[in-house]
Amino acid sequence: MDRQGELNIIRAAYAKQILAAAWGVDNSRLEAAFSATRREDFLGAGPWWIFRRLRDYVTTPDADPVYLYTDDLVGILPERHLNNGQPSLHAHLIHQAAPAAGEHVVHIGTGTGYYTAILAHLVGPSGRVTGIEYDSELAARAKANFAACPNVEILEGDGALVSFDEADVIYVNAGCTRPAESWLDRLADGGRLILPMTSDQGFGANAPERMARAGAVFRIARRGKDYLAHWISPVAIFPCAGSRDEVSERALAEAFAKGGWQQVTRLYRDQEIPEQRCWVRGPGWSLAYS
Ligand SMILES: C[S@@+](CC[C@H](N)C(=O)[O-])C[C@H]1O[C@@H](n2cnc3c(N)ncnc32)[C@H](O)[C@@H]1O
Repeated sequence: MDRQGELNIIRAAYAKQILAAAWGVDNSRLEAAFSATRREDFLGAGPWWIFRRLRDYVTTPDADPVYLYTDDLVGILPERHLNNGQPSLHAHLIHQAAPAAGEHVVHIGTGTGYYTAILAHLVGPSGRVTGIEYDSELAARAKANFAACPNVEILEGDGALVSFDEADVIYVNAGCTRPAESWLDRLADGGRLILPMTSDQGFGANAPERMARAGAVFRIARRGKDYLAHWISPVAIFPCAGSRDEVSERALAEAFAKGGWQQVTRLYRDQEIPEQRCWVRGPGWSLAYS
């Protein structure tokens, strides 16, 4: 068997392990997407920087892609602690987003595109993915990686400000203190927004900007004018440029300190919710218990 054949087998085993590690996700389409997508195609030439929590980054012994098929974060710009995210976390979050064939997915914080490619696999040739990346170097790398893919478009800019068509899924991969108005406006009826919310308290407190913030991921499902919200995962993730404001930052830190995010059921586009029903409120938005 040639090396590509061996790597195909390794990737199939990795896909199974990743889904098993992702809270036991049972999703054969997602497993097939992880099995078919070559992580090495998105991370530049090896050796690569694998993030080890207690030792910072460790370089792989050589450029054999086998080292990428573990449940580890891999540095994309390690000097800024900007990583290709943990596969099992993304498997869980993408499972919750449930992109279906033919749908339009908007991926905010595309990086170099590994998870954009998984999303493109899931929506298939009849669907499409719009990837938005703030960092110009990473946006250029992502554009090059998808140059031959007609159903993926990469845009450079702030995902809260760049205009995009109505989306069935908005998959945000950076930590926000509030939902952007444009995400709520452009989420289709029946659409799903995956929103990591992080404060700069927690383990990232007083740390330099490069440090990830600890937080919670919410799945927001649009039903007409209503937004149903529920907590789906803890998270530590790179901050979202432009989707953080000081008032929301303080409110979120207080809400995390008091607990109760697992009981959230609704997102409202105002802050007039009675105190006893409110988990957190910021300017023009709140997350509430009913
Ligand atoms: C944790 S990294 C994840 C990258 C990619 N999803 C991956 O796992 O390989 C977060 C990414 O979000 C990008 N980002 C931060 N704020 C953004 C914004 N407002 N709009 C678009 N991208 C943003 C960062 O530049 C970075 O590439």
